[in-house]
Amino acid sequence: MLVYAGSASKYLGLKLSKILNIEYVNVETRKFPDGELYIRVDKEPLNEKALIVQSMYKTPNDYLVEYLFLSKTLKELGAKEVIGVIPYFPYARQDSRFKPGEVVSLQVVVDLLEKMGTDKVITVDMHLHRVHDLNEISKIPFVNLSVMEDIGKFFMKKFGNEDTIVVGPDEEAEQWAKKVAYILNVQYTILEKTRLGDLEVKIEKVEKEDFKNKNVILIDDIISTGGTIEAAVKKVKAQGAEKVFVGCAHAILAQTAEYRIFRAGVEELVASDSIPSPYSVVSIAPVIADYIKKFLL
Ligand code: R5P
Repeated sequence: MLVYAGSASKYLGLKLSKILNIEYVNVETRKFPDGELYIRVDKEPLNEKALIVQSMYKTPNDYLVEYLFLSKTLKELGAKEVIGVIPYFPYARQDSRFKPGEVVSLQVVVDLLEKMGTDKVITVDMHLHRVHDLNEISKIPFVNLSVMEDIGKFFMKKFGNEDTIVVGPDEEAEQWAKKVAYILNVQYTILEKTRLGDLEVKIEKVEKEDFKNKNVILIDDIISTGGTIEAAVKKVKAQGAEKVFVGCAHAILAQTAEYRIFRAGVEELVASDSIPSPYSVVSIAPVIADYIKKFLL
């Protein structure tokens, strides 16, 4: 097996090659003056499995095109199997035609991967809302791993037995809140969220919950504009929370997200390195490497 990393995930690719003790192949990418993309790999994967590591955040279209060029090319160059490691999988939220005439972007991306030679995809804590398993809409297998246990372990070092509760900002976040709470051996609860627009959400608490004198750990899969976390922090603080910490798999941190989160009173943001940022203190490499060791090597 050989590791090829796209320009979004060079460091993650290196980490995986180190843990798995498999060769990391340099991928040269550059833009022509007109913006078109040039790619060349230093080693051809003849009769080898090829792992393409590319998290598709912030400039998802650029990273997607780069991935597709690589996938098709590695297959043409003789790869036995092309395995996409796409920790942050883009367009997951546009999984339905909500209004007539809309593009179901998730389906388009899934189809493109298969058409361009990818045989299998590994994602991490993917945003699965109406489609609960990508295998329902894909011809190639998808495996969705989770970094939430490792985020839980990170928080465990901080809190010990202090009075802590894990909170998911919406119904969907229950699956992640539950995993973190299990590791910490504490209670979890979820809030009720209504999205008012791209930047604003309204958060309510379903049951009456008292966060008085408790440390709250808010857990979500994605932080994009920070609107969800900002509203959730305000809510739990209004209900008596002492200190609020935030954990997430994919810190996109679009626009003024950091400002919104910290202004709302968050003590610390803990994110994975699926999207590199100063908050990437938990790595997804071990959980991906474990899966590859068990099932793909
Ligand atoms: C949506 O339901 C997701 O789980 C996240 O809560 C959402 O993507 C966060 O977005 P934002 O930071 O823009 O509120």
